[in-house]
Parts: sequence; C-alpha cells; structure tokens
Amino acid sequence: MNTPPHTATAPQTTATAESVFSVRDLWKVFGPKAERVPADQELRGLDPAELRERTGCTAAVRDVSFDVRKGEVFVVMGLSGSGKSTLVRCLTRLIEPTSGTVSIDGEDVLSMDTGRLRELRRHRAAMVFQHFGLLPHRTVLDNVAYGLEIQGVGRGERRERAAEFVTQVGLDGMEDRRPSQLSGGQQQRVGLARALAVDPEVLLFDEPFSALDPLIRRDMQEEVVRLHQDEGRTMVFITHDLSEALKLGDRIALMRDGRIVQLGTPEEIVGAPADDYVRDFVRDVPREQVLTVRSAMRPALGDEREAGPALAPSATVHEAIEAVARTGENARVVEGGRCLGVVDHAGLLGVVAGVPAAADKAVA
Ligand SMILES: Nc1ncnc2c1ncn2[C@@H]1O[C@H](COP(=O)(O)OP(=O)(O)OP(=O)(O)O)[C@@H](O)[C@H]1O
Ligand SMILES: [Mg+2]
Repeated sequence: MNTPPHTATAPQTTATAESVFSVRDLWKVFGPKAERVPADQELRGLDPAELRERTGCTAAVRDVSFDVRKGEVFVVMGLSGSGKSTLVRCLTRLIEPTSGTVSIDGEDVLSMDTGRLRELRRHRAAMVFQHFGLLPHRTVLDNVAYGLEIQGVGRGERRERAAEFVTQVGLDGMEDRRPSQLSGGQQQRVGLARALAVDPEVLLFDEPFSALDPLIRRDMQEEVVRLHQDEGRTMVFITHDLSEALKLGDRIALMRDGRIVQLGTPEEIVGAPADDYVRDFVRDVPREQVLTVRSAMRPALGDEREAGPALAPSATVHEAIEAVARTGENARVVEGGRCLGVVDHAGLLGVVAGVPAAADKAVA
C-alpha cells in the first residue's frame, strides 16, 4: 500500500528506482527554429512576451524537471495556457519535446522507435481526456474494449474484460448504449474504464472532470481516490482547480508560463508558498483543512505527554480544533505510542491565521 496522502516528507525529485517517469531539463518550444531557444542562454531567460517578439516562438514548457513516483497521484496545476497539457503530452511524445530528457522506468522515451512508442501508449501509459474522446457509433462495451482491440486481444476475451471494467466504474446495465445516450459523467466513466482496461502502469488525466457538474465531479474524484488507495495506481492528473489538486494530489507541480514554480505536497504548497504567485494562488484555501498538526505543534512540557486527546501526525488542524474544543484540553500528537508534541489554542489559531511563529512563541 501507499503512504497516506498529505503526510509525505520524503526528499524531492531525485531519480530513484521508485520513479515511473523521470523528466529532466525539458523544453517544448512552438514556432520557427524552436531548437535554438533552449540552446541559447539569452533566449532561455526571456519572458514569454519578449521571446515571442524576438523569435516568434512560444515556450510552452521551460526547463522542467521532476519525477513521478510509483503509486503517487502527481498533479499538474496552473492557469490556462501555463503549459500543463503540453507537458503531459511530452511524456508519451504525443507532442515531441524540443530538448531535455524523459524516461519511463529508466528507459529513454525520446529514443524509442515507432513500435516501442506505440507499445508505450497502448500498454504502459493510458490517457483520459477532458472531452472523453469516445467513438460515437460504438456501444459502451465496445468503447471500453477498444484499447484491448488495438492491442490485438481476441473478441471474446476483450468483451469479457471490458465488462469487468464497466462494472467497476458503475455502469452496469448500460453496456449496449451509445455515448450519446449517456450523461457527461457517465461518458467520462466510459473514458476511465477504457483507460483502465488496458491495465496501464500509469494513467494520464488531462482535466478529465472539468466538464462535469459539481456532484458528478465529486463522485469521479472519489473514484480516483479509490484507484489510488485500493489499487495503488500511478496517476498524473492535470487540473486548473486548486481544490481538486489539493484533494487528489500526493504532490502538486504548480506551473506558470511553462515553468514549475513550486513542486510539493499540498501541505507544503499551502503552508510554505514559494513566491507571491503561489501565495496568491492558495490565498483562499481553508488552511486548517490542508495543514496537519505537525505545523501547529510545540514540544510537550512535563505531564502534557500523558493528558489530553491523542491525534496522529497526519490529522488536520481542523480535526485538532474539533478535538481541543470538544475536550477543553490541549491535544497530543502521538505516533507509535510516542508523544511528538502538543497542539494548543495558540498554535492552532496561528496556523489558521497564517502566522507561522505563533507555535514557537507559545513555548517561549
Ligand atoms: N501547437 C501549438 N502551437 C503554438 N503554440 C501552442 C501550441 N500548443 C500550445 N501552444 C501554446 O503553449 C502554451 C501552453 O499551452 P497548453 O495547452 O499546454 O496550456 P494548458 O496549461 O494546458 O492550458 P488550458 O488550461 O487552457 O488547457 C499556450 O501559450 C499555448 O497557446
Ligand atoms: Mg490544457
């Protein structure tokens, strides 16, 4: 099983055996003589408007490096035009990168020949699109079986396997409908089942739920959480919706103008924004729902180690506020029977107010 989300304190972006995708110094430049942009120190440094003026080029992805670890949900977030789709399409060369390296399980993607690349897209990395991408004249079952058909799986077996995934995404009884006879949410479930049916090592989602209404969207998000927690699926998930990113992501890469301006856990992004852009992005997030008691606790003094309600280090500040309010006592943060610290009113208020020093002052 995976480590639970929102508690990761693991080291950042070093390529390890655990990485599925490993991306280094990646550039994608659109426009005339695109290759010269990453190769030229001066052009590399220009802002988007200057670059366009000087060269007629758009740098959609600029000097990006990261790893997608096995079993994690890696969210790519950013405003429209920040380069999210381009970045994710570069992973399987649906868009050809201009420079840099991409590897999957240690294998260089950029040197793959057509056959190997086809294998990558059919078996190893399946994409789920915003507009579903279903075949309109085919039934639900045949849409789900489509990826298997391309793989050359025989008709009987692929229909049998497709039926399993139709059930898994909750579309039992709809096997014979056409996409036009389904709601948006149901169509996206078909898209998801189709991707799952090929049993890919990694699922790539490009804003899959943005066309769905809020309730259906929540159902689909829960489906993703389930795939993550129960099946340990590795997923790269694009969204421009911050609450979706915080809910689903083990780690979030926040993009701006083609660059990753911060890569971290939801707690790191909300608790320690890298710059004013990120700070502005997360300004309205209810901090107490994202930050854990680790960011609110102080050392335990004397018999505080023995008294008060106990919380896990992964408990949110929101949960701690509840516990403290309910019992009228300070809460202990306990891991493996050991008391790591105490959260009190001052520490909790400090986190909610975004005043980081409050917890320290309380000790002094
Ligand atoms: N084929 C292309 N030719 C030229 N410019 C392109 C091309 N595709 C994308 N771009 C530009 O690259 C930048 C990044 O586009 P991209 O589609 O990756 O953004 P995005 O973050 O996915 O946006 P959205 O949230 O709107 O989907 C944009 O400025 C876009 O105009
Ligand atoms: Mg996009």
